Amino acid sequence: MKTTVEIHDRTFEILIQEENIAKRIHLMGIQLNVDYENRCPIFIGVLNGCFLFMADLLKAIAIPCEVGFVKVSSYEGTNSSGKINESLGMPKDLHNRDIILVEDIVDTGFTLRYLLQEIQKQEPASVKVCSLLLKPGALKAPVEAIDYVGFEIANEFVVGYGLDYNGLGRNLRHIYSVKTVPAALAEM
Ligand code: IMP
Repeated sequence: MKTTVEIHDRTFEILIQEENIAKRIHLMGIQLNVDYENRCPIFIGVLNGCFLFMADLLKAIAIPCEVGFVKVSSYEGTNSSGKINESLGMPKDLHNRDIILVEDIVDTGFTLRYLLQEIQKQEPASVKVCSLLLKPGALKAPVEAIDYVGFEIANEFVVGYGLDYNGLGRNLRHIYSVKTVPAALAEM
């Protein structure tokens, strides 16, 4: 199996294999089925990055539920700009409903904080966050506990399984992290 991939000017290497992503999502689905039994929650996916995670997670959900999406972006290259652009608005019918916000990754937490504020304006019954990836070392916005996390990863840039590097890499089956050049080699 090829373990590295070239995207634009960078080399990435496998961080989390497809099989391990699938296993983890299966377990997250079981947990959600138990926690939300008889509650008919609304899953709101944060586009674009969530699309594969959302699809696989929802296939593991066996309880009645609704699905919606919101589209935001805050990234330029490999850094969060901190400024949130919303291009597909928040679903409007969240009053008194149980909301599960589905993210591909929580990095600085700015996007999440913004989205939670938007959801709270509609006075839902409850809001929980389900993120495939979390970079605890990168959090800058204080966000309440992120309730369901697939994998905690180091503060490094990742692509694949929905995540992109300047538009490319979303279709990759594994999650890859950027390969850093050893300091000794970088100086040569
Ligand atoms: P935050 O607002 O900094 O938490 O970033 C949230 C969004 O930035 C995520 O939903 C992703 O779309 C994007 N993002 C954050 N970290 C990465 C990364 O390592 N690779 C690709 N996209 C990322």
